[in-house]
Amino acid sequence: MAKLIALTLLGLGLGFFRDYRSSFQKRLNADREVTPVELPNCNLVKGIDTGSEDLEILPNGLAFISSGLKYPGIKSLEPDKPGKILLMDLNEEAPTVMELKIIGSNFDLPSFNPHGISTFTDKDNTVYLLVVNHPYFKSTVELFKFQQEEKSLLHLKTIRHELMPNLNDLVAVGPEQFYATNDHYFVEPYLRSWEMYLGLAWSYIVYYSPDDVRVVADKYDFANGISLSPDGKYVYISELLAHKIHVYEKHANWTLTPLKSLTFNTLVDNISVDPVTGDLWVGCHPNGMRIFYYDAKNPPGSEVIRIQDILADEPKITVVYAENGTVLQGSTVASVYKGKMLVGTVYQKALCCEL
Ligand SMILES: *[C@@H]1O[C@H](CO)[C@@H](O)[C@H](O)[C@H]1NC(C)=O
Ligand SMILES: *[C@@H]1O[C@H](CO)[C@@H](O)[C@H](O)[C@H]1NC(C)=O
Ligand SMILES: *[C@@H]1O[C@H](CO)[C@@H](O)[C@H](O)[C@H]1NC(C)=O
Repeated sequence: MAKLIALTLLGLGLGFFRDYRSSFQKRLNADREVTPVELPNCNLVKGIDTGSEDLEILPNGLAFISSGLKYPGIKSLEPDKPGKILLMDLNEEAPTVMELKIIGSNFDLPSFNPHGISTFTDKDNTVYLLVVNHPYFKSTVELFKFQQEEKSLLHLKTIRHELMPNLNDLVAVGPEQFYATNDHYFVEPYLRSWEMYLGLAWSYIVYYSPDDVRVVADKYDFANGISLSPDGKYVYISELLAHKIHVYEKHANWTLTPLKSLTFNTLVDNISVDPVTGDLWVGCHPNGMRIFYYDAKNPPGSEVIRIQDILADEPKITVVYAENGTVLQGSTVASVYKGKMLVGTVYQKALCCEL
């Protein structure tokens, strides 16, 4: 409530539009054009045409892909169809995708609107898939059990909490335990757009378990991707509109202490960590204006960044792929498996490249 009053007072002040406008354009990197960085052997993935917002590759090469996101203000090519979870086997020569069947009597399929996903594999090798869902533009986390033989997802549970009103991404630390990003403070669309325009940085990170839910980090200008280091000691969080990746130390009591931050000339979306090398692979939006204000004549481009030795004084940062949107629009995530890189997008296609 205090924040609502503060925002109203702010809104009553005159003359702030000009200053905020230039800051908004800068936060959205509106002037950036892409200098192409190509890879010799890339193919669009057949069967993905309406988005691949998030993806996660299991150590055995099976990839889960969330497709068909409907998100306020962002393009959707199939606004009236439910979203889906796709499965792809990266061990195949020319991998294809199949849609996983969702089973469970309490699950409302028509309103399925999947966003960030994360897997957790328990000691019996049961794979759980946790999915941020936006049924009717609300936020829930859906817990599924992956049934590999049946190629299906068994719905076990819907999780919702007042501290998780605007979920974007999550990283599982147990089947029913995770860290999640809230990309906005407000739920109401009008207030959301002002929050983003003014750069209030009221978005935050939540730790969730059935008996303990709390905010563990805050003051983000659009908290977006979240991932863990392979040893589980560090948490990486991308702050989309501040163009930053933050590194936190994770403690036994689940609190996070900030360690360092890196700044980029691009909007950092999702972070995927290579389980073998520990490198971070980041799907980025070089020009955010084009992703939030879609224009078919001037589509958003794609960019993938790799960060090696993030804890070192001078981490090695490489732009692995950059393209102006002729091929791939609005990359959100990139993940690697045995010399292959899979790149996902908000509402369009997915690309598979040899590295
Ligand atoms: C980003 O990628 C990671 C790892 O692949 C996944 O766990 C996470 O949910 C993704 N989130 C978004 C919003 O794309
Ligand atoms: C959590 O653990 C850290 C590191 O041991 C400690 O500094 C901090 O005070 C603890 N916080 C809570 C709320 O227990
Ligand atoms: C994008 O890049 C392609 C290939 O490099 C080029 O043909 C095209 O003209 C570019 N489009 C824009 C809008 O810059």
